[in-house]
Amino acid sequence: MNRFALHGTFVDTPTPDALRVRTGYLLCEDGVCAGFSPDAPAGVTVLDYAGQLITPGLVDLHLHAPQYSYCGTAMDLELLDWLQRYTYPEEARYADPGYAKLGYGYFVRDLKASATTRACIFATLHTDATLELMHQLKDAGLGAFVGKLAMDRNSPDSYREPSAAAGLAETRRWLDACRAEDMLHSGAVRPMLTPRFTPSTGDEYRTGLGKLAAEYKVPAQSHLSENPSEIAWVAELCPGTRFYGESYSRHGLFGGDVPTVMAHCIYSGEEEQALMKRNRVMIAHCPTSNENVIAGIAPAAHYLRGGWRVGLGSDVAGGHTLDLFAVMASAVQVSKLRWRYVDQTEAPLTMVEALYLATVGGGDFWRDYGVQLGLFEPGYALDALVLDDSALRNQRDFTPAERLERYAYLGKGSLTAKFVDGRQIF
Ligand code: GUN
Ligand code: FE
Repeated sequence: MNRFALHGTFVDTPTPDALRVRTGYLLCEDGVCAGFSPDAPAGVTVLDYAGQLITPGLVDLHLHAPQYSYCGTAMDLELLDWLQRYTYPEEARYADPGYAKLGYGYFVRDLKASATTRACIFATLHTDATLELMHQLKDAGLGAFVGKLAMDRNSPDSYREPSAAAGLAETRRWLDACRAEDMLHSGAVRPMLTPRFTPSTGDEYRTGLGKLAAEYKVPAQSHLSENPSEIAWVAELCPGTRFYGESYSRHGLFGGDVPTVMAHCIYSGEEEQALMKRNRVMIAHCPTSNENVIAGIAPAAHYLRGGWRVGLGSDVAGGHTLDLFAVMASAVQVSKLRWRYVDQTEAPLTMVEALYLATVGGGDFWRDYGVQLGLFEPGYALDALVLDDSALRNQRDFTPAERLERYAYLGKGSLTAKFVDGRQIF
């Protein structure tokens, strides 16, 4: 058995309204937390991070790996124009295996160095490039669900599958390749069906994907109710639907038996929200993306406090950073703008709630796959981050909660170490 202990000041969120702070030793056995004690356990190697904060690994519920290459640029357009002008031309380049290998190399290098331990990732519609990304994530020791995109309409010919039938055949080829490599239902990197969003993926294609999700027992992810023009377009494309979410639920791609992550959910109405709750759809709140593609501000506090499943996503490159601590700070900030300008019935998020969203909240998606994430509790996967905030010290004494807050807001700290499933990544 592989056993060791971490020593430091552990912070986590058993409930969204309070930070738990414990200084001592966390025992790890075969990748899983095995108990906490104030004193050093006997006969066990101790990795000593005395004085440093240790948080659970952070979960990025929604991001686009191929968009990382233009992250921090292309910030001048709303969603639908942004996709046509910047996103599709760049993603199309991943048809070239050399370009994909290089682009994903930079992405995985930086994701590995970041606070993210687990993620739900959109790739491109190219099967082989998607497998390349999966291999690189696996080699880096990160945990991820990865999606080959399904797109058969409303994008340039150079970045569209020729038909639903061709796309479905390619999706099946990809799932079979995952099975042949033991990635379908085992290991830390697995496939996830990914209709990009309803405007990209026609009815026949979505029907076929719903069948594949049931047949292969794989989860799904997409975008939902992000932008007013997008929502109006979906209503036109899908006559007879009462709300956007029905364009997925009618095809078995909206939670229930198929665990599903939906990014954004900014403008979801009551019926859509009710179905999301009933079907346990996981909401990926992406505050930095909301700012950049001028989408609006999702009611994240309402979702969290009202019993929806919700976590955080960086949505790179709609979002401008992979750093989930920065995304946590943004979640708090945009919730205040929402309170001021949109809806004063829901108080803004706190930083503790933001940590909860980035750990327990998003981590809950893995529970359906037998992995418990987000807390330093016996039985939970040992995903952990050791924070080096020495650059943030000054003449004041800060509590652990304040140190965490400064780490997230000031962006001047760094990571000393990172663990996924008890394996030290660095
Ligand atoms: N909707 C469809 N595709 C995308 C994308 O790449 N980014 C975002 N933010 N929304 C989308
Ligand atoms: Fe997105």
